[in-house]
Amino acid sequence: METRFRYRRRLRRLAPSVGRAAVLALALWMTAMLWGCGRGLPSGKPPIHINPNMDDQEKYKPQGMSRFFADSAAMRPPVPGTVARGNLRGETAYYEGKDASGAFLARVPIPVDMLLLQRGRERFDIYCSPCHSRVGDGRGIMIQRGYVPPPSFHSDRIRQMPDGQIFDVITHGVRNMPSYAHQIPTPDRWAIVAYLRALQRSHNATREDIPAEDRGKIRRAGQ
Ligand code: HEC
Repeated sequence: METRFRYRRRLRRLAPSVGRAAVLALALWMTAMLWGCGRGLPSGKPPIHINPNMDDQEKYKPQGMSRFFADSAAMRPPVPGTVARGNLRGETAYYEGKDASGAFLARVPIPVDMLLLQRGRERFDIYCSPCHSRVGDGRGIMIQRGYVPPPSFHSDRIRQMPDGQIFDVITHGVRNMPSYAHQIPTPDRWAIVAYLRALQRSHNATREDIPAEDRGKIRRAGQ
């Protein structure tokens, strides 16, 4: 009897705060329900966006339609003759390895120095040696694994090729050799040509190619 009485008294004291909590919970629940109303219900209207924050902008999407242009295409072709930045190929000799009459250049059209040759060796070893080998004899690893054998760079035919033609072979490929224009940018192609010439020279060197003061140091074969 005593305990029941105490229990009731405690309940009475709690009642107002329980009521307030219930009202608050109900209010929260209703807010949540109203908030969620828009979601999942199909509607043709755009959702209410309190802070647009540049989420929606007037723009055309790729391949989209435009009512402004007569052909209805939102994507416009560039004006004829447009050149993308950095793609102006004004000098035919430099970019094609040919002179104005269309003949291959005899020599690399840029100054050849040690830096260019070093760059050429590095690029050659990366891009050409898998087939042509590091010494250019045409017996690279790809050939040992069954690829079509290329000619040796030390053959007379390739030694007599103009520099512009070798540049052209790297740019466009030739018969069984693919083009390397996409992997090797123009300046590097010239660096490779310059290095290829040095490689050929190294295989056909004469006594006169050795500086006079060093000639005494070489021994004849068999000595
Ligand atoms: C995937 C293998 C492969 C790579 C890599 C390769 N070549 Fe070749 N190259 C060949 C083959 C094969 C031929 C012979 C093409 C033919 O006559 O069918 C050839 C031929 C050549 C020729 C002679 C062209 C002619 O008219 O006979 C030159 C010069 C040459 N390559 C230079 C290069 C240079 C420089 C590189 C590096 C940028 C290079 N190649 C990279 C396979 C390759």
